[in-house]
Amino acid sequence: MSACGKQCFNHTSVKKKITELDKKKSEAKLGGGEKRIESQHKKGKLTARERVHFLLDEGSFEEIGMFVTHRSVEFGLEKEKYLGDGVITGYGTVHGRLVYVFAQDFTVFGGSLSEAHAEKICRIMDLAMKNGAPVIGLNDSGGARIQEGVVSLGGYADIFYRNTLASGVIPQISAVMGPCAGGAVYSPAITDFILMVENTSYMFVTGPNVVKTVTHEEVTSEELGGASAHSTKSGVTHFSCANEIECINHIKKLLSYMPQNCEDDVPVAPAFQNPNSKILNTVIPENPNQPYEMRDVIGGVVDAESFFEVHKNFAENIVVGFARLGGRSIGIVANQPAFLAGVLDIHSSQKGARFVRFCDCFNIPLLVFEDVPGFLPGTDQEWNAIITNGAKLLYAFCEATVPRVTVITRKAYGGAYDVMNSKHIGADMNYAWPSAEIAVMGAKGAVEIIFKGEKDLKKKEEEYIEHFANPYRAAERGYVDEVILPEQTREKLITAFKMLENKADKLPRKKHGNIPL
Ligand code: HXC
Repeated sequence: MSACGKQCFNHTSVKKKITELDKKKSEAKLGGGEKRIESQHKKGKLTARERVHFLLDEGSFEEIGMFVTHRSVEFGLEKEKYLGDGVITGYGTVHGRLVYVFAQDFTVFGGSLSEAHAEKICRIMDLAMKNGAPVIGLNDSGGARIQEGVVSLGGYADIFYRNTLASGVIPQISAVMGPCAGGAVYSPAITDFILMVENTSYMFVTGPNVVKTVTHEEVTSEELGGASAHSTKSGVTHFSCANEIECINHIKKLLSYMPQNCEDDVPVAPAFQNPNSKILNTVIPENPNQPYEMRDVIGGVVDAESFFEVHKNFAENIVVGFARLGGRSIGIVANQPAFLAGVLDIHSSQKGARFVRFCDCFNIPLLVFEDVPGFLPGTDQEWNAIITNGAKLLYAFCEATVPRVTVITRKAYGGAYDVMNSKHIGADMNYAWPSAEIAVMGAKGAVEIIFKGEKDLKKKEEEYIEHFANPYRAAERGYVDEVILPEQTREKLITAFKMLENKADKLPRKKHGNIPL
């Protein structure tokens, strides 16, 4: 019994307290009020609560900090308080697995970040780290709470710091579902994956007005930092989604391939269907210079319908994404002969490297399909540092300790042969199709150098092709473990990854490496 005695618990008093609690909850659920919710809907956007509702398993959301308010007294702000202070935070499950979530509420001060708002996000991140589960951020914010000044900037920095410490420990996913400007972009940028919604979201460091003042360029928000710009030109976003529901579904799908944290094993889907592997026998054209679609190869190997492409419209000369092989998650990196002949350049190297590192952080085995004529020549590439950027992909593969298997479908030329997960840099198994050509360079270029000044090089070229444009020189050295028929690829890979299931590999002891950034 409490000190106040029986009267504290009489029926009327309890009812009153319950009513008060209900009232507060209803108030919090209304965020910035009906009018602003309506305005949010009119823009084609869901509210923060609706987003959380669609993201999490029904009834699984547990909210934390529903009644938190800001503490600011500047600019009359003490008279304007909203329960929750513009961000909904908590935890729940996606397909039965624990996740932590924060969703910025644009109806409250435009989702802007105050000291209290930042503290709520940090609390979620701290819990996620201690309990080893992913953090999902649903961003929709006008940036720093202008009335709070430097306190808000400090709040951002607290989040950036946690994002960085959490990197490689737990998966972090950011959906940008409205504005995300200024320094605020750097939290999503540090996380593992960014998703954007077409026409209703944008990200930029400086907006169109500043751009116009400084560079005299006239550009709209959408052109400058919309989903299209960032999914095709900059590669900042990994997914461009037609609408918010598609975006939320993509987050759920993405999570289904990942372990909960860096100590966890990859999830295994108990049921899967086999693909049509026969297609693989006819996928390589007779003419070695003719392109073909590498996604057909991937589709013929992995579990049916399991390939989930990442960064689909950026640096299309390399294809990366998640898939399942016999139910197990894998990460795929594949040259794409149907785009720029599958050449490696600055963007494709960056794209590949980032994906390899994500998979390696989270114990996701890597499968590489290789058909690469080399690195892209030219001043643009050299002056923009293809050397440093190509080295990122090389470094990422060298450093990866997860099970790694390569299948050379056709060309494996020059330095690109080494870079694309060769056995020399730590791949565990390397298969080649009979169509593989593994050499320093293409026959034409090679004979022009070897027989410089001589005429009638046609015959020499044929000899070079005969001698080098095949997988057998590499197989003689053991650089290729087995030459296999295309239709055997799936079974060979399932067996190889099973054999590698308990692979334990360690890098030399160090503080951290120095990847060429
Ligand atoms: C406080 C803000 C706010 C902010 C918007 N609001 N941004 N309140 N701080 N940063 C409030 C508005 O006053 C308004 O309140 C409501 O949110 C909705 O804003 P609108 O302007 O009516 O909406 P819309 O027309 O959709 O325009 C959205 C917007 C615009 C483009 C985001 O509001 C805007 O430009 N805001 C300022 C952006 C900005 O400069 N932020 C600081 C960036 S610097 P009412 O009461 O009318 O509903 C930064 C540094 C971070 O973020 C550094 C980290 C290291």
